[in-house]
Formats: sequence, C-alpha cells, structure tokens
Amino acid sequence: MSNPKPRILQRSRLLPYLEQALAERYDVQVHDDEAGLAGYLATQGAQFTGYVSSARFGASRAVIDALPNLKVISNFGVGYDQIDVARARERGIAVGYTPDVLNDCVADTAFGLLMDVARGFSASDRFVRRGDWLKGQFPLATSIAKKKLGILGMGRIGSVIARRSGGFDMEVRYHNRREVAGSSYGYEPTLEGLARWADFLVIASAGGAQTRKLVDAKVLDALGPKGFLINISRGTVIDEAALLDALQHKRIAGAGLDVFENEPKVPEAFFALDNVVLLPHVASATHETRQAMADLVLDNLDSYFAGGQVKVAVP
Ligand code: 8YV
Repeated sequence: MSNPKPRILQRSRLLPYLEQALAERYDVQVHDDEAGLAGYLATQGAQFTGYVSSARFGASRAVIDALPNLKVISNFGVGYDQIDVARARERGIAVGYTPDVLNDCVADTAFGLLMDVARGFSASDRFVRRGDWLKGQFPLATSIAKKKLGILGMGRIGSVIARRSGGFDMEVRYHNRREVAGSSYGYEPTLEGLARWADFLVIASAGGAQTRKLVDAKVLDALGPKGFLINISRGTVIDEAALLDALQHKRIAGAGLDVFENEPKVPEAFFALDNVVLLPHVASATHETRQAMADLVLDNLDSYFAGGQVKVAVP
C-alpha cells in the first residue's frame, strides 16, 4: 500500500490552477472562513502537516500553535509579514515563499502608479467620462523625466524599480536600515532626508513590525507639496490617517497606492480625492507572474515532502 498523501490546510482561495494541482498531489482541506477557523482547528488541527496561505492571511502564532503536527508552510507571496516566522522556527516548521518571480510586475506597477498620479491619467479618464472635456481643458500635470526618485527599501523589488527609472533619466537615491554594499545609487541615512530630497518617494520595503508607520506626518511634510508618494509594499508602512490628511490639505502633491492598512477596506475619504490613485493590491496580479508564484508554492511543498526542505525558504 502506498503512503497516504500529506494532509494540507489551504487557508485562502487560490488560483484555480494552483488549487487543482494541490488537490491532485495532496489531501487538501480548504478553509477560508476566518470566523470559524479557531473552532475548526481546535478539533481538526492535528491532522495537517502542510499549510498553504497567501500574503493576506499568513499564519499567526495562534494558527501555528493550533496545528501541532505542522511541518511546512508554503506562502503564495514574497511578503511574509503575516506569518509568525519566529514561532515557526521554534517549532522547526519550514517556511517557503515566492520571491523574485514577481519583481518585474511589482516594479511595473510602481511605475504605473507613479506615472498615473503625476500625469493625472486616472483623474483625466474620469474627466472625459464625466463630459468635462466639453467644458474645458484638463489641468496641467507634472513631468517625470529627470526627476529625483527616492526608494525606501533597495531590495529585490526596489532595485528593479531603480533600473526601470533609467528609462526616464531619473536620479535615484535610497534609504535602508543599512547601506547596500556596492550599490551605484546614493544612500540617504534617514527616511526624512530621502523624502526631502525626492520628487517621488516609492515604498518598496518589507512590511511587519520593523517598518510599521515609518512614513508618518513628518516624512510626508518632508516630501512636501510637490512630492508624490507611491506604495507597492504594505499599507502598514504608512500612517494612513496622516497620509489622508496630507492629501486632503495638499501637503503632498499626490499618492499612488496598491496596498492599504486594512485590506480590502479602504477609508472612503480617499474616494473623494483626485490626487490619489487607488489599486486593489494588484501589483503581482498578471497571468504570467501569478503562474510563476503558483509554481513556486507547489515546488516549495513538493520539495519539502520529497526531501525535507522547501525550495525557497524565508531568510
Ligand atoms: C500577494 C503580495 O501575494 O507577494 C506579496 O507579498 O503582496 C502579493 O503578491 C497577493 O496579493 C496574493 O495574496
């Protein structure tokens, strides 16, 4: 008799292709009902050795602790701020994720947002649809070429964003906790200093406790009334109330946001503003990139169950 398939808890709905592939290889239980999860795990948690989740749900300490036989977590996403990695480590649980395969699409989205908010593309689309073009011209916007691009987080995605900016002849500086050895871009030792220097400040850092509300009222005021903020990282990196206030009072020129503090809830006060572009967390959401992420989710699990190690483990 062959070994039974490992039991996997699938914590959120995933691409149909990925769900099908998982179900073929593993004994999968889908549980995306947040309210009922604790009760379910209390009686059923012990049967699972694998866990698949996405950036939004992650794996909290409580969830990990309710899975006493858990051996491997495979995360659909590069961000693992919602996974209690320290707890997983204490328990010897392997944690796989999907870095690199989404760099291009996320960097493209950063530039899409940057161009949109500076040139007012979404706002001018609304202008045409409202019939306002018949009454007059859309106001002049802001040029991008040769401007100063500040990047918070010169990691995998940040460096692709920096590379993209070469096509716009932009000057790049960045802020990180530590200077990147060998980087050809200028390092700003403080985020406030970077914001003061930049015309466009792009957030490409990781989420989590260490970056929580790093972009606060002081940083926004340093960016100033001609500066634009772009966020393709995590909503938690910004003090969202301070950002809303800065946009409402034009203390910054505009913002392009793919991520929010409490997704999918976006504070309604943003909807009234024309100086902000709002996207529903779609930076990696292309067929090509999501397929590559799905493949890595599978590879991580398969590699763990075949040889005891995920293919790409969180650092
Ligand atoms: C998510 C993301 O994976 O990779 C990340 O960290 O935020 C996204 O690519 C996507 O929203 C699916 O949950």
